[in-house]
Amino acid sequence: MRTINIGLIQKTFKELFPQSPTPITVAAPGRVNLLGEHTDYNDGFVFPMAIDNQMVLVGAPNHTNQVHLYSMDFAAHDVFSLDDIQLTKTNSWSNYIRGVCVMLMNAGYSLEGMNIVLQGNVPQGAGLSSSAALEVATASLIDEIHELRADRIELVKLAQKAENDFVGVNCGIMDQFISMMGKADHALFLDCRTLEYELIPAQFEKMGYSVVVVNSSVKRGLVDSEYNTRRAQCESAVEALQPHIPGIKKLRDVTIGHLDLINTLPTDLAKRARHVVTENQRVLDGVKALQNSNLKLFGELLYASHESLRDDYEVSCKELDLLVEIARSIPGTLGSRMTGAGFGGCTVSLVAHDAVDDFRTTICEQYSKQTGIKPETFVFKASDGARRL
Ligand code: GLA
Repeated sequence: MRTINIGLIQKTFKELFPQSPTPITVAAPGRVNLLGEHTDYNDGFVFPMAIDNQMVLVGAPNHTNQVHLYSMDFAAHDVFSLDDIQLTKTNSWSNYIRGVCVMLMNAGYSLEGMNIVLQGNVPQGAGLSSSAALEVATASLIDEIHELRADRIELVKLAQKAENDFVGVNCGIMDQFISMMGKADHALFLDCRTLEYELIPAQFEKMGYSVVVVNSSVKRGLVDSEYNTRRAQCESAVEALQPHIPGIKKLRDVTIGHLDLINTLPTDLAKRARHVVTENQRVLDGVKALQNSNLKLFGELLYASHESLRDDYEVSCKELDLLVEIARSIPGTLGSRMTGAGFGGCTVSLVAHDAVDDFRTTICEQYSKQTGIKPETFVFKASDGARRL
């Protein structure tokens, strides 16, 4: 995978905008979700970690009302005026930046024009939150350039709003939250209802294990429509449960003790609700397992999460299922599951250090042989959230 050369991004900035004052550099990471899938928009629990792949923005004010952008990844320029920000079809990457500007201004912050150069190495379209990384990096850069000193959680919410209301993707809060608030050597346990969070030490390496992510390289074609369908089904399940569970607002309010009741719902709704309720419990159990250094249990929870996403939430696909099955057959693997929204994208596995090479070779050989698709594998370390460099 491409490494990011910060010096080169800064040099490119100087070449493109020689008159600019000294620019500010910020970085925001992508993420891999360890446990807690499709729970965030149900006010539930998630347990992601920030990864060492990131989006880097170098920018300075230009004392106009125009924002000039250059994406090194796409070798493309874009420009828009802060007075009239519209969606663009030509440079879709620019919409994340545009959306964040809109949301900050709607929240009452006054912005001036900027020159910005950007480059990232979070794989795109792989379910590792490259868009959240761009939104959060943008919010952080604007915050630094304008010395807004905005609350970081407020910036997280505005970044999510940019994706929901400007870009038009109805995501939950997990990706932007972890991209902003992640910490090296820690995973982040987040209560998506209260936004209370706890950084849990996650030094898998010290315990002899690696977090290995495999990109199925399957484009997540259905993801947007199916994602919205799942959200609607969760809401319908809540409505159907309301007469039986007083005060329930989201599936978060339903617990394992209600499983018999859940099973009386129409099949689709029962399956969706069962996933969310058991997945929330798996997050709670997973956090405890990690705190007790019980990686064997943590791994079992990963497998159980995959089965629930496959059978009850029905957001997996045959390629992701195959990756998990191959992973399971490799000695040294403690657990494996699809991660992110599903319908393609990546799996995350917990693999013993000395088995990682074998894991990578076997996965690549067997997956390519059975699907004709070449997967990509990454070993990720828990990394810091957004920061000024
Ligand atoms: C996407 C969304 C997140 C979350 C996951 C599923 O990554 O952006 O908010 O809902 O899917 O867990």
